[in-house]
Amino acid sequence: MRQSRREFVKGAAWMVAVAAAAAECRGNMSVGAAQPMSNFAVAPLKKIRVGIVGIGERGTAAVRRVALIPGCEFTALCDLRPEAVDQALKWLKEKGKPTPAHCFSGTADKWKGLSDCDDVDLVYIATPAPLHAEMEIYSLLAGKHVLTEVPGAQMLDEAWKIVEACEKARRHCMMLENCCYGEMEMFAWNLCHKGLLGTLTHAEGGYIHNLTDRQTADHFRNRSRKEQALRAPGSEVRHWGNPYPTHALGPICLYMDMNRGDRMEKIVSFSSSAVAKKEFVAAKYGPDAWQNKLKWEEGDINTSIIRTAKGRTIMMQYDTVTPRPYSRINLIQGSKGCFYDYPPRLALAKTPGAHAGWLSDADFAKAREEHKHPLWKSVGEIAKKVGGHGGMDFIMDLRWAYCLQNGLPLDMDVYDLASWSAIVPCSAESDKRGGVPVEIPDFTRGAWRTAKPQVIGDVDLKKMGFDPSSAKKDTAQLET
Ligand SMILES: NC(=O)c1ccc[n+]([C@@H]2O[C@H](COP(=O)([O-])OP(=O)(O)OC[C@H]3O[C@@H](n4cnc5c(N)ncnc54)[C@H](O)[C@@H]3O)[C@@H](O)[C@H]2O)c1
Repeated sequence: MRQSRREFVKGAAWMVAVAAAAAECRGNMSVGAAQPMSNFAVAPLKKIRVGIVGIGERGTAAVRRVALIPGCEFTALCDLRPEAVDQALKWLKEKGKPTPAHCFSGTADKWKGLSDCDDVDLVYIATPAPLHAEMEIYSLLAGKHVLTEVPGAQMLDEAWKIVEACEKARRHCMMLENCCYGEMEMFAWNLCHKGLLGTLTHAEGGYIHNLTDRQTADHFRNRSRKEQALRAPGSEVRHWGNPYPTHALGPICLYMDMNRGDRMEKIVSFSSSAVAKKEFVAAKYGPDAWQNKLKWEEGDINTSIIRTAKGRTIMMQYDTVTPRPYSRINLIQGSKGCFYDYPPRLALAKTPGAHAGWLSDADFAKAREEHKHPLWKSVGEIAKKVGGHGGMDFIMDLRWAYCLQNGLPLDMDVYDLASWSAIVPCSAESDKRGGVPVEIPDFTRGAWRTAKPQVIGDVDLKKMGFDPSSAKKDTAQLET
């Protein structure tokens, strides 16, 4: 359907406002902004003293993985809930790990004490998403390296401030996008970087994960929803666009070397009608339950399409409520081939554009071995033993620790954090405005044109002093 002139002008006015806001943020930038962080590295940090903020589900699992890595030591723990800190402390003591010198809990701003500790090199953030940006900015400006759970920011001005703080502080700031390290994602990354798929033109990703039970359970994580239901019965629960884009987008951006030769320019986004969660709560909880006092108006499936500067397209879906089986879609298309996950398939053409069918199971198994990423070859089995989404969480942790210990750039930088997270507000704005194209800011301010592609290399377990027999399954690791 054609857009009316009035709609076009309304949309254009909004885009001008966003561009002005972005320019204002850029205008306020300090001297540090002149030094891009692409391919940034620091001197080798053999011993990494880690402070963790947020020891809930993800944080607890992270403590148990990171504590296995030689040279990584927790020196500070923080959670709003004292019992979460006590449990982590107890586990570290039981395992004979060094006792953290500092523990913070009880009030919402205690984490600042952790970021200010002299004996913390790196702040690992695993709190609820709306808290990430402030914690990242404060920690960077306190001189710490920062690793943060996803997404790294919720709003564009936050994302700009994180970039500014990172450039000013000259510290690493990486989002812990574990899906980039999945076995199939790393296989696809390898195919792309060996040129086997030809020139990359299109990708599809998703976060299709039924979480209705978790999102509506009477659990401390849903406390604010429960309070909303009791305070304002009949009120709406709604989000626009894609509130959780990075599991879908991160691996694709690494396949396509985004922010290093290309960048995401525009997005359009639409959400479907809201049905599945309404039907779920009506069937599961009694009519007087708090869950039935809210209007669940989150569209079941959000679909967004991004266009890049090079003219490539990325389709992304977000769906945490329908019964569709788990999938991150994970499709990457080039002129010579296509990889498509869930289940994994590969089609390779002899010449660009020629017809190619999916490889047979036997041929795919051969290709899977031949093009397995070096990281999965060397630590895949160990990582599967430790666990964490099939091992990818541990591979991610081993990799950032190895890079820091050897003075290498991390696999993802602050521009990746900012641009991938910017999809949250940009998709929301497009969806809200009926799917109009929305500009995605260039957080690199042009540096993407010359930044070198990031090579995701191997780790050397011997050099790290890692004893493979220390890899044991841990029940705190999430597998779904
Ligand atoms: N990468 C992944 O696979 C993955 C999976 C799930 C969640 N996540 C992300 O991880 C983050 C944490 O998720 P979770 O499932 O562990 O949540 P959670 O609710 O289990 O844990 C969050 C913890 O943060 C604590 N906290 C809250 N406010 C705090 C404050 N002001 N100071 C200190 N601690 C505070 C809470 O007490 C809680 O223990 C979220 O950002 C989420 O998006 C990532």
